[in-house]
Amino acid sequence: MYNDKVLKVFQNPSNSGEIPDADGVGTIGNASCGDIMKIYLKISGDRIVDAKFKTFGCAAAIATASVATDMVIGKTIDEALKIKNADVVEFLGGLPPQKIHCSVLAEEAIHAAIDDYRSRQNKQ
Ligand code: FES
Repeated sequence: MYNDKVLKVFQNPSNSGEIPDADGVGTIGNASCGDIMKIYLKISGDRIVDAKFKTFGCAAAIATASVATDMVIGKTIDEALKIKNADVVEFLGGLPPQKIHCSVLAEEAIHAAIDDYRSRQNKQ
């Protein structure tokens, strides 16, 4: 069902785990399958300096979270917000149509983590 690139990333994903002192954490549930994605961001100034993920999701969720976290590390917040699940799917060389919804999890969880970061900043 998956291409070789997706399988390779799934078998050896980057950035899995958590950041205990994260500056922003976002958790998103997938309405269609019930799986969950949690993204942790470390932010310095306006730049994402580290990102990690934990998921109860399928191979597509793991592979797309790996790529999405790789893509946002080193980016400014505004640049990270422009990264779409379609960019991640394209990088992976495509996903089966019934797995596209899995790729939305990482994008939405990154947005939720940035929202969390911003609301923490506003409280200071
Ligand atoms: Fe739930 Fe892929 S089937 S994240």
